[in-house]
Amino acid sequence: MIDRLESIRRTLEAHGQAHVLAFFDELDRSQQEELLDQIEQIDFEALDELIAEYVLRKPRIELPGDLEPAPDYPFDSSDPARPYDAKKFRGKGEELIRGGKVAAFTVAGGQGTRLGWDGPKGTYPATVVTGKPLFRVFAEQIVATQRRYGGTIPWYIMTSPINDAATRAFFADNNYFGLVRRNIFMFPQGVLPSIESGTGKLLLEHKHQIAMNPDGHGGSIKALSVSGAIEDMVGRGIKHISYFQVDNPLVRAVDPLFLGLHAEARDSSAEISSKMVAKAHAEEKVGVFCRAGKKTMVIEYSDLPPELARQTDERGRLRFGAGNIAVHAIGVKFVQKLTANVHHFGLPYHRAEKKVPYIDVRTGKRVEPQEPNAVKLEAFVFDAIPLADGPIIYETSRVEEFAPIKNAKGADSPATSHQIQSDRNGGWLARNGVTVPSDGDGHVAAMIEISPLTALEAEDLVKVELPKVIAPKQEVVL
Ligand code: UD1
Repeated sequence: MIDRLESIRRTLEAHGQAHVLAFFDELDRSQQEELLDQIEQIDFEALDELIAEYVLRKPRIELPGDLEPAPDYPFDSSDPARPYDAKKFRGKGEELIRGGKVAAFTVAGGQGTRLGWDGPKGTYPATVVTGKPLFRVFAEQIVATQRRYGGTIPWYIMTSPINDAATRAFFADNNYFGLVRRNIFMFPQGVLPSIESGTGKLLLEHKHQIAMNPDGHGGSIKALSVSGAIEDMVGRGIKHISYFQVDNPLVRAVDPLFLGLHAEARDSSAEISSKMVAKAHAEEKVGVFCRAGKKTMVIEYSDLPPELARQTDERGRLRFGAGNIAVHAIGVKFVQKLTANVHHFGLPYHRAEKKVPYIDVRTGKRVEPQEPNAVKLEAFVFDAIPLADGPIIYETSRVEEFAPIKNAKGADSPATSHQIQSDRNGGWLARNGVTVPSDGDGHVAAMIEISPLTALEAEDLVKVELPKVIAPKQEVVL
């Protein structure tokens, strides 16, 4: 222990971080071990570079001068702007699923602070009537897709060290939602220390613990590799990963048309493809797909100047209006390419200034900062797009596929998500001859829930016994 402590102390001193041992002598044996283990996990050489580059100075986001909207495959495949054979591509995607070449992948490592939910976000009760948790909604989609096409869709779930145990327990308590245990692969993402702004110092969250934060959903690329998930995929013959965030109960977890385009479209390198929806309004908090020269990229909402966000085209639509809904198809080979060099993980980091409570090393007292005091560094998965040779973008319909739950109230809250879910489900019923009440603003005036086990898309309702009329405010579960 003494030798180990001395060697760690020397490393910390060399990097100006020895203060994290300030309370070492007060700690009990297991806390001392925990702190030393944590310190040994940190790559201080790399951290010094990150601190110099992102914490002690603010890298300016340089927008390329030749920024243009990125082209996409329109939702309506007969759109004269870019017609394509949707039936053919859907067939290709179905073949991939049937052949066991597709895995589902959920990034569920975020902290969910904005939602104020005390537990992994995937355990949040998301559906309109029965309050089904997000994880169950995705599981039912996977079960239904496997039933329809045959073939196994293994499900990879990225947790974080903070919610990994709770996520595993939730799945076990729910009997893996009817899925086969060995086809579910969970792994925690990486973490990085949260760094004090201005000083570049590590912060102590507790006397025996350094404050850390998950390394962003971009960390999923590296985590897929170091966790062994990619190796597992290769062993199973998986070629494509259907990537989605944990916060969207309407996401089409495994979409044959999108996967078919990704794998087979002439301009696609099958490395990384993305879904987009038209932005609802200029200020909507979604990143937008852009192009500069030959590179396609997402410019995050906070980085897009308001004058560009508001520009309209000749048809009066937002020019930079291709909103990122964080659904991607990713080639297994592309992840292997990005992670070939374990010491140099290619995605850049983004800095976010946050309030991080800490123990003051001079007084030993806990400080709850009123203003942001620290920088958290996160990588974003869409920064992989400019690294791909031929990334493509496919437009989908907002009401069909995008009802995220991010905030407790206001935009992207349970209330807005429930309305979109009812709108989508009401639309499916109306297409099948049911009279559905409307509130006059174009929204469905009833609470309608349809399980993925009943229907994955509107056409599946043909075989289901449906009510003829739904009354205003009625609760319907199918
Ligand atoms: C994100 C996208 C935005 C997109 C929007 C669509 C970013 C920076 N922005 O915004 O372009 O338009 O979604 O809904 O991503 N996560 C992890 N580990 C982490 C951090 C996040 O797994 O370390 C997961 C979360 O669990 C969640 C998702 O990533 O599923 C979204 O992260 P969040 O930080 O909430 O991004 P948004 O601001 O919502």
